[in-house]
Amino acid sequence: MSIAYLNGDYLPQDEARISPMDRGFLFGDGVYEVIPVYQGVPFRLEEHLQRLANSLAAIELDNPLSDDAWCELFERLIEKNGGGNLGIYLQVTRGTAPKRDHAFPSPAVPGTVFAFTSPVATPAADSPDTAEGAVAITLDDIRWSRCDIKSTALLANVMLKQQAIASGASEAILVRDGFATEGSASNFFIVEGGVVLTPPKSHLILPGVTRDLVVDLCHQHNVPIKETEVTEGQLKAAEEIWLSSSTRELVPVVTLNGHAVGDGHPGPLWKTMARHYVDFKRRLCGAS
Ligand code: PDD
Repeated sequence: MSIAYLNGDYLPQDEARISPMDRGFLFGDGVYEVIPVYQGVPFRLEEHLQRLANSLAAIELDNPLSDDAWCELFERLIEKNGGGNLGIYLQVTRGTAPKRDHAFPSPAVPGTVFAFTSPVATPAADSPDTAEGAVAITLDDIRWSRCDIKSTALLANVMLKQQAIASGASEAILVRDGFATEGSASNFFIVEGGVVLTPPKSHLILPGVTRDLVVDLCHQHNVPIKETEVTEGQLKAAEEIWLSSSTRELVPVVTLNGHAVGDGHPGPLWKTMARHYVDFKRRLCGAS
């Protein structure tokens, strides 16, 4: 039985209730985080809490908890869900207002805080020699221009992901004005001439915690990396393409739009980085 957290209470997830007047439900007026947990230890917690604070500030919503209180909440939630390897989902909405009005409630009402855990699949990076790799397609980036906010309003991402799935792929890499931005639920990297490229942080992409870690690991291990715009043409001609996210870590893309990426197998630089990623994870969390 999964135990969730809702506004101060820990309870079975299917007993958690919010009002249909919650602004998260009515407007998607809220932000969220997804934090991986390895062997009961949250991974890159400080970075996730910082991004949560940034998202809340961007939508002018007070952080309902201190960082210490968030940490305690996660500790209890992990313990109540048996520890091990999990993903924590948390969301904060602008709460339940007496009437539906686009404007913020005045006076402000308490935000809704909801968190739950789910089991996570074993990521590809854990077995670099046998990983099969992912299939992706490119699609027009139809989202708004504040993709740096981790908003629960994900309709465009949902539609894009579904279009990818319907075409037999698992992810869509999005293209805006001729430049690839990110995946519908991931950041991306390419390898061009042996150099790793990933778009710089801007309002057009989510500043991925996993992305930042991969950039750091490249620097630490002298793998040449540039944070620079990537055109659709560069993406399509790439020697390797990788996707990064908290739930999937670092995944090689082996087919893009029906064409093989490189030789159609996970590339050598991905294997190198997957090993560095897993080493880092083990050192931090003792993860297996
Ligand atoms: N999504 N870009 C988008 C649009 C995302 O939704 C995500 C992650 C990322 C990667 O960010 P991070 O490395 O911090 O997880 C980039 C999460 C996992 C989700 O929505 O479930």
